[in-house]
Amino acid sequence: MCGIMGYVGPGQAAPVLLDGLQRLEYRGYDSAGIAVLDREIDVRKAEGKVERLIDLTKTSPLNGSVGIGHTRWATHGAPSDLNAHPHSDPSGAFVVVHNGIIENFYELRDRLTEDGHEFTSETDTEILAHLVAEAYRGDLAAAVRSAVAQAEGAYALVVMTVHEPGKIVAVRRISPLVVGLGVGETFLASDIPAVLHRTRDFLIIEDGELVIVDESGATIETIEGEAVDREPLHVDWDSEMAEKGGYEHFMLKEIHEQPAVVTETLAGRLEEDGSAWLDHVDFDDDFARNLNRVWITACGTAYNAGMVGAEIFRRLLRLPTSVEYAHEMRYADPLVSEGDLVIAISQSGETADTLAAARLAKERGARLLAITNVVGSTLSREADDVLYTRAGPEIAVASTKAYMAMLIGQYLLALRIGAARGLADSDLADRVIHGLHALPGDLERLMQSEAAIADAAKRLAHAEDVYFIGRGLDYAVAVEGSLKLKEISYLHSEAMPAGELKHGTLALITEDVPVVVVITQEALYDKTVSAIQEVKARGGEVIAVAYEDDDRIGRFADVVLRVPRTDDLLGPVNAVVPLQLLAYHVAKIRGNDIDQPRNLAKSVTVE
Ligand code: M6R
Repeated sequence: MCGIMGYVGPGQAAPVLLDGLQRLEYRGYDSAGIAVLDREIDVRKAEGKVERLIDLTKTSPLNGSVGIGHTRWATHGAPSDLNAHPHSDPSGAFVVVHNGIIENFYELRDRLTEDGHEFTSETDTEILAHLVAEAYRGDLAAAVRSAVAQAEGAYALVVMTVHEPGKIVAVRRISPLVVGLGVGETFLASDIPAVLHRTRDFLIIEDGELVIVDESGATIETIEGEAVDREPLHVDWDSEMAEKGGYEHFMLKEIHEQPAVVTETLAGRLEEDGSAWLDHVDFDDDFARNLNRVWITACGTAYNAGMVGAEIFRRLLRLPTSVEYAHEMRYADPLVSEGDLVIAISQSGETADTLAAARLAKERGARLLAITNVVGSTLSREADDVLYTRAGPEIAVASTKAYMAMLIGQYLLALRIGAARGLADSDLADRVIHGLHALPGDLERLMQSEAAIADAAKRLAHAEDVYFIGRGLDYAVAVEGSLKLKEISYLHSEAMPAGELKHGTLALITEDVPVVVVITQEALYDKTVSAIQEVKARGGEVIAVAYEDDDRIGRFADVVLRVPRTDDLLGPVNAVVPLQLLAYHVAKIRGNDIDQPRNLAKSVTVE
């Protein structure tokens, strides 16, 4: 977790660092700090968001053209001015920022304490400053290597010293790190969008590499000291895509981008006859034909997208497919074997749990396919095949458009596999292909019903508990709707299969407990209606998400949020949108920080 920045160039470092940190706030935002080197190193830090740090630097400015910065998501030590990065050695000559966790922190701190070192913070990061200073013999890169050799864990580290002005040394051990190459200036950042408005040319630092940055560029070596030759990556993203584009929040903007995201994710990949051309998906037809089993692994919203994916694979291909939480799978000794396909889904491609499950799958001989939104992410580089979701940078912590793109990616993948091994139901496949092409238009239309959804949000905004129910694919959508509501509205909410309600949870349904029902699956329609009746009989209020031409639902539900009809297998694509908007408007009524909800971070790069 955390966002890190570095700058070496002719200009003032502080504004560049602060601007980059604001763009990285989605990675953590409980405190922030920068260090700038002039003749000495000067540090400013503040608990809270980067905005507070900016205010501090207005009253207490920093001069210098070399600097490093950090926005934090606490792991060791509470959010505070003291625990905010950067951290220095006692002399103040070395300063570090760090993203990730030092696993042998206690061991190292005990050893350093015995040697007479004193610490001013509770962080694991501070020991890195001590280790670098202790090892320094006139060569910063060598001292960083020595520190990294002692510090176990997954992290990215950035170091600067008064002894070698004009230079920054950084290391990537799993946690992401990129170098932006400007003209006469060089940037370090946790991700590309942080400096995309300053340069389009990047060096992606790989796991186990050290980079020495100065104003003329960067030199990459392995941590062991071997030279690495890396071609810069030219990035075409429109930097406008990373801005709010007139919406009040990134989340709202990202919800409204979904029609375009579907178009982009499908673009050039799906022929009218159903053949799917997936760039970077390289398995051959024999592999697809001989496939016995598919595993989908992911966390959070990506897992919820995987729930839909598993059903797509089962229905279109009749292929045994299970979906596993990555944090469970990695420790469950799963029965993954050679010839299986393991699909790891991750918007960021950096989620530690998902990476661990993916690596386990590879160790067991499975073919690893990544569905990810970030080109150059760790997952994309480790996978045998990659399906990029093309959703563009997702800034809001609550994932919306990335979920949508994950769904589309899984329909495409099923069609690609089906082209090789045959589709279980060709009529269903035809309806899905036709329906996929119609989706962007459907979603555009759906966005126009936002006012009705905002109105329905008033019914939930002051509840204490909300339940989400549905059956089959409707249940998968209910799970995602419930997660969205929880993370940004802070309301207690729970999703369950509609058939499960009567087995216990019904005891909690009263007139104060609203129930959101997703009801799009024709085969299960009457069963879901029975669950609605159970709720109504206990006085519960029902908000239903149903097809626009469903003329029965009005008899059972108090409020109906309508979505365009599509084949039931595509139902989740439309049905999730009212739930995203519902969560957004509830959170807005409650006055919450929608883009950066409390206690959460966009990219969970620690276990
Ligand atoms: O980057 P990933 O897709 O791997 O992230 C997985 C989850 O942390 C993420 O989906 C999280 O649940 C979202 N905040 C939900 O909106």
